[in-house]
Amino acid sequence: MPLTAYDLTGRTAFVTGAASGIGRASAVLLAEAGATVHCADRDEQGLHETATLIKTAGGTAHIHPLDVADRTQVDQAVATATAATGRLDVMAAIAGIMHSSPVLETRNEDLDRVLNINFKGVLYACQAAARTMIATKPKASGTSSATGTGTSTPTPTPTGSIITMASGAVDTGGPGLLCYGAAKAAVVQLTKTLATEVGPHGIRVNAVAPGWIRTPMTDRHDTEAQVHTEGIMVRMSPLGRVGEPEDIAHAVLHLASDASAFTTGQILRPNGGVAMPW
Ligand SMILES: NC(=O)c1ccc[n+]([C@@H]2O[C@H](COP(=O)([O-])OP(=O)(O)OC[C@H]3O[C@@H](n4cnc5c(N)ncnc54)[C@H](O)[C@@H]3O)[C@@H](O)[C@H]2O)c1
Repeated sequence: MPLTAYDLTGRTAFVTGAASGIGRASAVLLAEAGATVHCADRDEQGLHETATLIKTAGGTAHIHPLDVADRTQVDQAVATATAATGRLDVMAAIAGIMHSSPVLETRNEDLDRVLNINFKGVLYACQAAARTMIATKPKASGTSSATGTGTSTPTPTPTGSIITMASGAVDTGGPGLLCYGAAKAAVVQLTKTLATEVGPHGIRVNAVAPGWIRTPMTDRHDTEAQVHTEGIMVRMSPLGRVGEPEDIAHAVLHLASDASAFTTGQILRPNGGVAMPW
């Protein structure tokens, strides 16, 4: 690892949605950067596949089958993950589902399901992570101003980084995106609010808002022929392509690492230039 700012050796990361797509690519890359990675998802088979990828590459992985919409399950899994190493450095709350329905046809159960997973699932992970990071953060030592002797040692650099997964849907809108977009907008608000509240503890909170990424999620909701190679997102991108999970994993690694030590409360948009909000 020649770029030490990206080196996560000795750190503990917890990744939700790690059984597939962006979450799997992020878990694999964080492990490649040296982190012990705790992979959480409701898809147990997919978790085993991700853990095998990590271990085969020489990394360390643990799996936590869970439903992110269940606060108790999330709290227990984060506690278990933290007990092993005594620390939590990175939370990447990536699990989510797609849903599309016109506003006039949207049912209560649609709204509840999407908000429960895509917003509350992220909230529970953020709360569990922030509480743990605050409780386990390194203590400053050696300050002796009370006695006036004037000797002190620097406060240890805190490493807590929380990363949420928003979406380009919050920038562009679009038919059918009421539930999904509302949940992702709530994730952005959560990210900014939490960043202001836990910043004094040295914890950073940032969102990633990907454009169209080729994953099982977009494969399932591919309503346009050849969308990944010729669709509107390809035509709208100055780069002329859709994203790959690894494109987003690199954004996650950047926000997880010390390379982004002065970045908090921000939305990083790896979207191929499809939207350029300022
Ligand atoms: N693919 C894209 O174009 C795109 C764009 C913007 C944002 N995103 C966001 O990125 C995230 C990952 O999406 P992806 O494209 O990799 O999708 P994916 O379907 O490949 O992966 C999502 C993962 O989340 C897990 N999951 C879903 N509900 C869960 C629950 N209740 N509890 C635990 N795990 C659960 C699934 O089992 C799956 O492994 C999502 O939050 C999605 O909204 C994706």
